Amino acid sequence: MATIANANTKGGVAKTTSTIMLGAAAVHRGHTVNFVDADHQGSASSWVNQVKTEQPDLPIELTVANMATLRGLGDDKLNIIDTPPGNPALIDRAIAVADFVVIPTTPSLGDIERVWETLEIIPSGTPAAVLLTQVNSQAVLAKQIREYLESEGVMVFPESIPRRELFRKIYGQWPENDARQMLGYEDVFDNIMEVLS
Ligand SMILES: Nc1ncnc2c1ncn2[C@@H]1O[C@H](COP(=O)(O)OP(=O)(O)OP(=O)(O)O)[C@@H](O)[C@H]1O
Ligand SMILES: [Mg+2]
Repeated sequence: MATIANANTKGGVAKTTSTIMLGAAAVHRGHTVNFVDADHQGSASSWVNQVKTEQPDLPIELTVANMATLRGLGDDKLNIIDTPPGNPALIDRAIAVADFVVIPTTPSLGDIERVWETLEIIPSGTPAAVLLTQVNSQAVLAKQIREYLESEGVMVFPESIPRRELFRKIYGQWPENDARQMLGYEDVFDNIMEVLS
């Protein structure tokens, strides 16, 4: 199967949330997922461990990654990598082993600068797309940022992830196969699989 990396050199842009949500979407679609935690903060690890304690039968695994294990990821499962902010070597390595890179970002001008920085380290042959997250539905800025990125030739997922209190509460839990909990991540996952097929 494939390897998807969630990467952005900026912190707090929903890399970990997107990792888990895309993994949940994959499981809902019948895949077995290997969550790969490359962030020494271990947020994805504790989230996955908490879920596995409560639902041991879910088809999910956890790999705590470093420079070496990132290179040796198997291809029998769908690997979804969570990367740390501000660790260029690990971000580089995660991107290098990925078949698709998701770049989560909030729709703020300061964060968009870091999107460029992240795009620069993605090899030209690797598909990548920006995922606008924590989007306030009233905000004009998100629409303008999307148009700007697209006009510069950057792929942006057609669906944006709304800003919702739910995401702050869902930490450590497994999102149900329900559109009200997935809030667009299933469409993002389907998009990625379409590109990879
Ligand atoms: N769509 C959303 N709506 C509201 N809050 C969100 C949303 N997505 C993520 N959050 C919240 O934003 C915060 C940062 O998210 P997250 O930890 O996933 O970011 P990160 O990029 O992994 O951060 P770090 O760089 O520290 O690893 C968390 O409190 C999370 O619950
Ligand atoms: Mg994180």
